[in-house]
Amino acid sequence: MSGRVIRIGGSEQEHARYQALVAQHGSPLLILDRAELLRRYRLLQDQLPDADIYYAIKAFAHPAVLEALGRAGAHFDVASAGEIGLLQELKISGRRTIHTHPIKKDADIRAALRGGSTTFVVDNIDELGKLIPYKQRIGLLLRVSFRSDTAKVDLSRKFGCAPEQVPELVHQAATLGVHVRGLSFHVGSQSLSPTTHAEAIRRCAELIRETEEQEGRPLDVLDIGGGFPVDYTMSGFDADAYFRPIREALGSLPEHISVIAEPGRFLIAPAVTGICTVTGKARRGDYLWYYLDDGIYGSYSGQLFDHTLYPLQIFRDQGERRQSILAGPTCDSIDIIAEDVELPELEDGDLLIGHMMGAYTQATSTHFNSLEGAKVIVI
Ligand SMILES: Cc1ncc(COP(=O)(O)O)c(C=O)c1O
Repeated sequence: MSGRVIRIGGSEQEHARYQALVAQHGSPLLILDRAELLRRYRLLQDQLPDADIYYAIKAFAHPAVLEALGRAGAHFDVASAGEIGLLQELKISGRRTIHTHPIKKDADIRAALRGGSTTFVVDNIDELGKLIPYKQRIGLLLRVSFRSDTAKVDLSRKFGCAPEQVPELVHQAATLGVHVRGLSFHVGSQSLSPTTHAEAIRRCAELIRETEEQEGRPLDVLDIGGGFPVDYTMSGFDADAYFRPIREALGSLPEHISVIAEPGRFLIAPAVTGICTVTGKARRGDYLWYYLDDGIYGSYSGQLFDHTLYPLQIFRDQGERRQSILAGPTCDSIDIIAEDVELPELEDGDLLIGHMMGAYTQATSTHFNSLEGAKVIVI
């Protein structure tokens, strides 16, 4: 699942639908398909039937996403006071959240408590200390680090204690009177091999047994994080084959453990399509440069921050193919969506479609050059 896909051509009907959206709402756009989002949610429920799903709001924090998932019964992974605020605006109870940021200011903890969160993630003794004043009201998950070289984004370098530290940290928490509910991990985003999750789950099962024996009291939660991948090559993703080893590993957990998953990308990536428009072109040396009204400082920011190449599509499919460069609207030279691509000659007004653009796209887009950025349209 790597490499950039560029589709040239497409059905008239599909093209007309995108053109109509631009005629109605302008360009650039991010089209959120609520039905697709809910299909992804149900697919994950089917694949992980014993897990409670907490949507990682950071992936795409739009109210329509939170509302649709909230109605479907999802829970939420929050990592900041702002994310809790989004749920409060929608009257979604903080009781349906866990606060997953391992490092917090006291103000963050208090905002989370006011919002109704009672489960917090920590990964070290200093952080544990910050939660002592609130110990009557909260439970903790201890984040464990499992490095992975098959994930696109490593989330176990910056956060997580070493597995060997778990028994000692659980013991310290018990001595301080802070309740540890269980363990959590995140093997990294876009984790292409399920083995990483499966091995981390099995190691956590051992750690849970070890600490339960040591402390003489049970843990009750394992949070297996997010990281479930999507297929940016659009060549077909066998969800059952991917999740089977994870389900098997979950079978190694003690029966009383409840499982939480915190997916972001898996739910939202395929539910959002980007549409932007060619606004100008120039021949420079051997290349035809096209300038679009969205780019690296906007919805395509994930190409930089999230290391993702979104599948692209243009509809013009006639004429000689030329070496082309698709550039974004800002004045900066790194603002290039795709280099060295062979395309039929495009014209001003032609659309560029970016598929699977839900995760970590709008989330990291900026207003550089005072550009407004893509408008989100919910269908
Ligand atoms: C703590 C935590 N949970 C969940 C997620 C969501 O991960 P993904 O989008 O890979 O499913 C992230 C992503 O950064 C994270 O940091």
